[in-house]
Amino acid sequence: MKIIIDTDPGQDDAMTILLALASPEIELLGVTTVAGNVPVAQTTENAIKALDLVGRSDIPVHAGAERPLLRPPVNATHVHGQTGFEGVDLPPPSRPATPGHAVDFIIDTVMAHPAGEITICTIGPMTNLALALAREPALRTRIGRIVAMAGAFSEVGNITPAAEFNVYVDPHAAQMVLASDIPIVMLPLDVTHQMHTSAARLARFRAMPNRVGPVIADWLTFEKKFEATKYGTDGGPLHDPNTVLWLLRPDLYRGRGVNVRIETDSPLTIGMTVTDWWQITDLPRNVLFIREAEVEALYDFMFERFSRL
Ligand code: RIB
Ligand code: CA
Repeated sequence: MKIIIDTDPGQDDAMTILLALASPEIELLGVTTVAGNVPVAQTTENAIKALDLVGRSDIPVHAGAERPLLRPPVNATHVHGQTGFEGVDLPPPSRPATPGHAVDFIIDTVMAHPAGEITICTIGPMTNLALALAREPALRTRIGRIVAMAGAFSEVGNITPAAEFNVYVDPHAAQMVLASDIPIVMLPLDVTHQMHTSAARLARFRAMPNRVGPVIADWLTFEKKFEATKYGTDGGPLHDPNTVLWLLRPDLYRGRGVNVRIETDSPLTIGMTVTDWWQITDLPRNVLFIREAEVEALYDFMFERFSRL
């Protein structure tokens, strides 16, 4: 599978990039960064540092949108720390961003491959993807699939009572992506909140006989400081890696094709993914919405893969 990861690193974003690199089924064509957890200069630096961790300076990293399409920028430094990468001190990035805007990289890469061949894995606000769709409408029939960590049904909201962070930061971009007719798989908070980064699992990462394991343990230990307290669970949610995990092991997830729309007007609920799980409307089922995960099997799979790095 040839994929582009569009991302706002974020410790869980970095894990997603590393998981893709540990998996022979996946060819990571490039990383595009966006403003989200922290500003785009920082998410770009963090993406390069994650790739440096495993010596992959061959993977292009293109910086993208500095801000959402319409909404004022929002960040998540309360979860990820000021740099978005708190938890472990990594060396400075080995290189600057690859020249060329993220939106152009997405367009050029997709248009250079046969239709349907490229999967976009989006694990931050969808600003770059929306801009690419506006700039090159042909992407609607050329992108094979979008796998998004986005939204929520019964988990409702994590940045507001009604909205998940990636959609909340740029609800208009999410709306454009959902209206694109490109096959979309959503891994929402309903799934990510089941994937607890428990003390036992952190210990398994820490005990890994390589560099990546302990770094992941440190990243997740930092992230869970805020989220485990907020949810009162043994460990916090694990969000972004569920996208690459779904690509690798869709058999360990369950969901259903449903209609999803985005609230973009109400100040109270803007960014809410209005999910017709019970198929009350006869609106098109535009999203494969995942709600169940075989958590233990997924962690066992992750440990096997990360231990290869
Ligand atoms: O709501 C969870 C999402 O927000 C994840 O992608 C996390 O990295 C943050 O960006
Ligand atoms: Ca993210």
